[in-house]
This record gives sequence, C-alpha cells and structure tokens, in this order.
Amino acid sequence: MPETDEKKIRMATESYKRTILITGGAGFIGSHVVRLFVNKYPEYKIINLDKLTYAGNLANLKDIENKPNYTFVKGDICDESLLKDLFAKQKVDGVIHLAAESHVDRSIKDPFLFARTNVLGTLNLLQAAKESWKNDYSGKLFYHVSTDEVYGALEFDDTLFTEETRYDPHSPYSASKAASDHFVRAYHDTYGMPCVISNCSNNYGPYQFPEKLIPLFIHNIRNKKALPVYGKGENVRDWLYVEDHACAIDVIFHKGRVGETYNIGGFNEWTNIDLIKVMIKVADKMLGNPEGTSTELITYVTDRAGHDLRYAIDATKLKKELGWEPSLQFEEGIEKTISWYLDNQDWLDNVTSGEYQKYYEEMYADR
Ligand code: NAD
Ligand code: TYD
Repeated sequence: MPETDEKKIRMATESYKRTILITGGAGFIGSHVVRLFVNKYPEYKIINLDKLTYAGNLANLKDIENKPNYTFVKGDICDESLLKDLFAKQKVDGVIHLAAESHVDRSIKDPFLFARTNVLGTLNLLQAAKESWKNDYSGKLFYHVSTDEVYGALEFDDTLFTEETRYDPHSPYSASKAASDHFVRAYHDTYGMPCVISNCSNNYGPYQFPEKLIPLFIHNIRNKKALPVYGKGENVRDWLYVEDHACAIDVIFHKGRVGETYNIGGFNEWTNIDLIKVMIKVADKMLGNPEGTSTELITYVTDRAGHDLRYAIDATKLKKELGWEPSLQFEEGIEKTISWYLDNQDWLDNVTSGEYQKYYEEMYADR
C-alpha cells in the first residue's frame, strides 16, 4: 500500500466500533453504499478499496471524501500483498465486496478480464480475510454483492428468480459472477467463514457509467444522438433505484442470516422499448422539446450475442425476513434520475470524454 494511504488510514481515529472494507466504492453502486455507510455510521471506519478502472470515479464521492471516518485506497483486489497488508494493519472485521467488471457487452469482448477480476479477485479477497481472521470469526462478516444474471434468463411468463433458482449463467459476465458466488459459498461451507450474498436486479440512478442503457440514452437524447436498441427492444429487465439497493445492503449486512442468499429487486419489470419510451417522454419534457421529439432517435441495431430475454426477481424473502422493500416508485425514480443527469452534465461530459481518467493518471503517476 502506498505510504500516504497508509498514513491517512493510521491518522484516522483508532476508536472505531468496526472497520469495514468496501471494494469497488468508486463505482456506481459502490459509491452509494460508501456514502450511506459513511454518513449513517460515523462510529465505523470505512475503507474504500478501488482500482479506479474506467468505471471508477472519485468524483462520485466528492461530498464525503473529507469525512473523518472515510479513507480511500487505490488498489487492485487481485493484489495479494496489498490485501494482506490492509487486513493486518487495519483490523478489518467486515467486507462489503462490490468491485467487479460489470458490463455484459465488455465481457463478450474480453472474458478473461472478467475471470481475473470477478473470480480471482473475489477468491483473493476471501483468502485475505480467512488468513487475517485466522478462524476467529466472531464479529466478522464477508458480504458479497452479486447479480440476478447468475440465474440465466426467464421466458415471457410470470415466473420469477427465487433464491432456489438453479444457476444458469449465459454471458461471460454472469458466468464470472456465478463462479464468484460459488467461491463465497465454498469459503462458508468449507472454512466456516461468515458470508452472505445478495443477488440484485438492474440498478438505475445517479453516477452510473454511461455505457449502460439508462445513462447512455439520457446522454444521447440530450445530444440528439442515435438510441441503439438491441434486437427488437423486447427484452425485459427489473429495475431498482440504486439508493434502495444500498439500503438493502445495509439491512442485510446488519441483520441478514449468515450463510444465506437474499434476492433484491424492484418488483418493476419493463421491456427495453417501453422503458425507452418513458425516458424519451420525461427527458423531452425536461429539455423543453415537443412531446415525442426524440422518438426519431430510436435505432434498432444487431442484437447482443446471447442476449438474456427476461430477468425478474422475487424479493419476498428479504421483505418477509428483514422488512426491506423498495421505497421509490419507478415513475419517481426515473424522473429523479433523468433530472440528475441533466443537472450534472459536467459529470456526464467528463466521463464520456475520459477527462476524469487523465486527472487520476496525473494524481497517481508516481505510484
Ligand atoms: P461499476 O462497474 O460501476 O463499478 C465497479 C467498481 O469496481 C469501479 O469503481 C472499478 O474501478 C472497481 N474495480 C474494478 N476492478 C477492480 C479491481 N480489480 N480491484 C479493485 N477495484 C476494481 O459496477 P456497479 O454497477 O457499481 O456494480 C457493483 C457490483 O454490483 C458488481 O459486483 C456488480 O456485479 C453488482 N451488481 C450490479 C448491478 C447493476 O445493475 N449495475 C446489479 C446487480 C449487481
Ligand atoms: P445494460 O444496461 O447493459 O444492463 P444488463 O445487460 O446488465 O441488463 O442493458 C439493459 C438492457 O438494455 C439489456 O437488455 C440490453 C439493452 N441495451 C440496449 O438495447 N442498447 C444499449 O445500448 C445498451 C447498453 C443496452
């Protein structure tokens, strides 16, 4: 670990109740989880470990970066010695693991990168926790954040993914997440490590990297660029507002039963084309365009290879056991989201131009 990071961490008050290592905290969902934990639990020390790949952006955490209970460490979950050092020196007792390569289209182009980060990175993190905790697991927890995509695809009917649904991943992304879930369960079953896993549906909201459907299309509507709809736009996704996901993670981290899996979902299914039409309606209105202006931007393009037809989550277990349910209706969530991207055009422009990466390259040039 670079000396400056180490010093910063040591300087933080030593009397925290817990030390939680959140990986991937500079990404989309991770930044919401870090923000929630730093603000809600001043008695916890929160360490955000992130490699700052193209998807990581510290601008996502500007509002909390100076909080005394927060520290950022730039590093790779595949770096064995860094993890060893971090666990040993910081006395980490909780892990919330979100770091991953997360975009299906990228996984189709480079499956090996997904195997490295998502599978080997997770294994590395598990092993570092195991070695540091030395079989003394009281007060410890390894929380692995996963996706509903491990379950494969549903037909156009009323079936839902439950925690009992057999794993059947199709894309290199979902295969790598499935493998990482299996390793987490193996560490629980074999070594007795206290682990919990959640599998969530598609998230939307502020700070999502604009190669994913919702931010990409908002960006393109604003810039009057084509909206590339894969295939016929008939695929179905279940969408959850990202802050609701962060709240579910909080609830599961504190109250979830060890060794269990919890599905997290929005009870909110949309075909891609219907969702896009809603986005066009809301965005045109906010931009002052006559209704339907951006419909002409819809461009049907070649379908994604192996494109999963439908994802839909049954989150009843989480609701019944831990009392969590989504707080936002989709109509409210999508308005908030579109308005955020339109109000934060600098963030979007910086990310799409790659400007923010140059800033980090300079900042970390000596490391
Ligand atoms: P993201 O791509 O926005 O962020 C991933 C973060 O991980 C980035 O900050 C990146 O820099 C970091 N990272 C990547 N490789 C790393 C490495 N080797 N070491 C350290 N950090 C590394 O992803 P996201 O959408 O925020 O997803 C976060 C997690 O939630 C992932 O595990 C993903 O599988 C899961 N998930 C995502 C969704 C979704 O809709 N986005 C839904 C369900 C589950
Ligand atoms: P995405 O945001 O990539 O999430 P995921 O593939 O993990 O579900 O895509 C959401 C849906 O939108 C998915 O069915 C693919 C589709 N899609 C498009 O039609 N066009 C696009 O440009 C993108 C990025 C996605």
